[in-house]
Amino acid sequence: MAVRTRSPSETRTLGVLLGNLVLPGEVLLLLGGLGTGKTTFVQGLAQGLEVEGQCRSPSFTMMNAHEGRYPLVHVDLYRCSTPQEVVDLGLDQMLDAPNVVAVEWGEKAGPIVTDDYLEVEFEWDDADDDTRLIQFRPFGRWQERMRELGDAVRDWAGKGGV
Ligand SMILES: Nc1ncnc2c1ncn2[C@@H]1O[C@H](COP(=O)(O)OP(=O)(O)O)[C@@H](O)[C@H]1O
Ligand SMILES: [Mg+2]
Repeated sequence: MAVRTRSPSETRTLGVLLGNLVLPGEVLLLLGGLGTGKTTFVQGLAQGLEVEGQCRSPSFTMMNAHEGRYPLVHVDLYRCSTPQEVVDLGLDQMLDAPNVVAVEWGEKAGPIVTDDYLEVEFEWDDADDDTRLIQFRPFGRWQERMRELGDAVRDWAGKGGV
């Protein structure tokens, strides 16, 4: 599924829609370069999970945990340059527990990922500076969850959202 957003708030709302339906133990890998909207999307995800307060990019700490309807673990692998550094973060514990795990720079998560994850790729769009192309690719169990997400997105688009 591919969605074009035309503002940060639209990307955030897309995150809310996913946050409304994501379940404990589910993993989201967010792909795409700096400034494409990954953190903005996670802020919406946190809102959908009813996390209080702001989610900032965890670039320096690499990992932040938030209490919400379910625990949200927000990871940023930007500063990891080797697979060993990724392994050393100890993310496997986070993945084993009933957390929702969202990983920025998810393309580096190879050493830790399971078979079941939703890949969300963020790209600039030619249209203008505020447009992003966001593509959802489900793997494993996520393939069955896509209809629910698709319905939520279509519903929102129908109300003039996208
Ligand atoms: N459609 C859009 N979606 C998300 N961010 C956008 C959009 N248009 C402009 N922006 C801007 O792009 C930047 C995205 O930053 P951020 O979410 O931190 O990206 P990343 O985490 O991928 O580096 C923000 O400054 C935001 O205001
Ligand atoms: Mg970020």
